[in-house]
Amino acid sequence: MSYQVDEKGYYGEFGGAYIPEMLYPNVEELRSRYLNIMKEESFQKEFKELLKEYVGRPTPLYYAKRFSEKYGTKVYLKREDLCHTGAHKVNNTIGQILMAQKLGKKRIIAETGAGQHGVATATVCALMGMECIVYMGEIDIDRQAPNVARMKMLGATVVPAKSGSRTLKDATNEAIRDWINNPVDTHYIIGSVVGPHPYPDMVARFQAVISEEIKNQLKEKEGKEDPDFVVACVGGGSNAAGAYYHYLDNPDVGIIAVEAAGKGVDSGESAATSALGKAGIIHGSKTLLMQTGDGQITEPYSISAGLDYPGVGPMHANLYASGRGEFISITDEDAMKAGLELAKLEGIIPAIETSHALAIFETRKFEKDDIVIVNLSGRGDKDLNTYIEYFNL
Ligand SMILES: Cc1ncc(COP(=O)(O)O)c(C=O)c1O
Repeated sequence: MSYQVDEKGYYGEFGGAYIPEMLYPNVEELRSRYLNIMKEESFQKEFKELLKEYVGRPTPLYYAKRFSEKYGTKVYLKREDLCHTGAHKVNNTIGQILMAQKLGKKRIIAETGAGQHGVATATVCALMGMECIVYMGEIDIDRQAPNVARMKMLGATVVPAKSGSRTLKDATNEAIRDWINNPVDTHYIIGSVVGPHPYPDMVARFQAVISEEIKNQLKEKEGKEDPDFVVACVGGGSNAAGAYYHYLDNPDVGIIAVEAAGKGVDSGESAATSALGKAGIIHGSKTLLMQTGDGQITEPYSISAGLDYPGVGPMHANLYASGRGEFISITDEDAMKAGLELAKLEGIIPAIETSHALAIFETRKFEKDDIVIVNLSGRGDKDLNTYIEYFNL
């Protein structure tokens, strides 16, 4: 049994493409061409070159000595925070802008929560001289102001989403609406392993460079390619998908997914999708989804804009349902403490999304000789105001 996507676009019972008829031509064009385009030598050459010269890959696999000593296990940090623009998101936007060019598209749209994907999209649009429109929830525009300024400086138009919870899911709705209205010239760069097939698979393949590098780097440092555990925070699930990718079908490597419990899983203010979700359809994909008894989406909450999503990618829904992945929920409070702790122990200020992954060591115990990789998905600059207010710094 494989935990990769099957030829119909499913991960177990999750995935597929549940889309309105008006979106079918756009999605079908992408589905029928993405694998062949990705296989082209010219595509691979340009993708790899940009990851190296522009993004700054490979990112280091850093042995966190003081953090490891504190928790009595061996912790390595995969430093995606050192990617150009400050998070893993750019691995995917580089891949998708090249895809858009191969498909002959001229206009790019995107949704963003924390603003990291918006910045990464605006960045590659500037790089390639393409028009860029980013949809962003009104609430997220307020709490991620530095990233909004960055997008504008990079030449993107930021359009506020004013419906629902005015966060990521609502921004995604607006982007889908735009795509329906502009089917010919526009490519929609989705920022995570969500949405209709082929997006979850395509984004996972672009992010798979993370685990490809981990294998090589761990071999150099520890003499073996496989860690005991790979840990990542999960919003939609793209940094996690990239960190797990080459280990998915290797049962010797434990997979740990960390979700945002917000103010507590049962508080009514949470984004812990696996704990609270049931099978449903969101943004074109069958997946685990926080919903009311009659199937209306429940508004999610997390202090971190990037984890504030009521669904999760279908790969992760299957990892949860099959038991392949271990899912842990972390509250705002515990995440914030873990972020501050990493700053003090290692001199690295993580994004609040990432802080959720770091917080598990307080409760999840590992053996002394275990090798635990934490995917350090992003840096905390964008969250400085939230850290300052929270800790009265
Ligand atoms: C630094 C960082 N980590 C994690 C995430 C969550 O997204 P994903 O689950 O797709 O990696 C975000 C989303 O914006 C992010 O900015």
